[in-house]
Amino acid sequence: MAKHIGILTAGGDSPGLNAAIRGVGKAALRAYNMQVIGFRDGFRGLVESRYIPLDSNALSGILTLGGTILGTSRDKPNAMLMGGQLLDMTDVIVDNYRKHNLDALVCLGGGGTQKNAYKLLQRGLNIITLPKTIDNDVAMTDVTFGFDTALTIATEAIDRLHSTAHSHHRIIVVEIMGHNTGWLALGAGIAGGADVILIPEIPYDVELVAESILARSRSGRGFSIVAVSEGAMFKEQAAEIRAIEKKLKKADSPEDKEKTTAALAALEAGRIGNTARLASRLEELTRLESRVTILGYLQRGGIPTAADRLLATRLGTACADLINDGVFGVMVAARGDGMEPVDLREVAGKRKVVPLDHPWVVSARRIGTNMGD
Ligand code: F6P
Repeated sequence: MAKHIGILTAGGDSPGLNAAIRGVGKAALRAYNMQVIGFRDGFRGLVESRYIPLDSNALSGILTLGGTILGTSRDKPNAMLMGGQLLDMTDVIVDNYRKHNLDALVCLGGGGTQKNAYKLLQRGLNIITLPKTIDNDVAMTDVTFGFDTALTIATEAIDRLHSTAHSHHRIIVVEIMGHNTGWLALGAGIAGGADVILIPEIPYDVELVAESILARSRSGRGFSIVAVSEGAMFKEQAAEIRAIEKKLKKADSPEDKEKTTAALAALEAGRIGNTARLASRLEELTRLESRVTILGYLQRGGIPTAADRLLATRLGTACADLINDGVFGVMVAARGDGMEPVDLREVAGKRKVVPLDHPWVVSARRIGTNMGD
């Protein structure tokens, strides 16, 4: 009997999602004669039974499209806003999985999606996932699809910012996405030749950053490009956060826990606006004009690069092979030129941060990039 599979895309959209849907779908149809449907808008589509058949027509002409033809959302199965109330919809998902006679559910997403998918696996569904995100922060995979495209966009942006920074003898602080990890800012900063790269893994000392900019200025280079991750922190903020986290670990009463958690959330929220604060502090300390550019969602939009299309296609087709072999409870991880099915338990709830001795960090320091410490 032909197997039935469902596919959904969840979390932030990312270039390469359609290439991955196409990879899974075409291999499933052509090699294994499976029946494939795609649920709309992430886990919500599975709750509301909103889906489209993914036949060869639907899978045609989507390789180069940005975004996801299925739509996406950040809805979680166990806490979904339904009629104004947050409800646990896991039972409905399990029922609908059965109603659709699914033999497997393929979830394409980043860290949050891997966690949600793992919860559904624990409820007995045949789950298999693919690692997607521009942030490249999914554990246990060499790389995620979407990252290369965002890296290319951010690098091109830094290239373009160079000529205007140079002409005006300005500091340009460019904010790059990446959530709480620095892969994107670090990669684009190195590839684009940023003078300063600031990432969440290395809290920065603004005075050291200003000194390095002044040293450039004294040696005749009157402009500087600062590539900063959206999650990067002043060293003072990092110290405060660490202290509260320690307090939270020690908190024994529920009141204490609640109070400390709220204090931590307030500190985290206080990081919003860091990029503007950084630029104005640098202007004060160096007396050089500073400007801010926030790349934002530009980094997630548009066509995927060749590398992302290739990665998404090979992981997608490998996923169909694994389903055919009855391998579930895994994420199809990129490993060198190949792939490896990794137990979802190793992935869910974990985040791949930039190790302080990562070769990219070492190289950036070797060429004289200021890392804020
Ligand atoms: O995870 C991808 C990402 O673009 C992060 O880099 C960013 O922090 C976040 O999503 C933005 O989320 P949203 O799309 O919900 O605004």
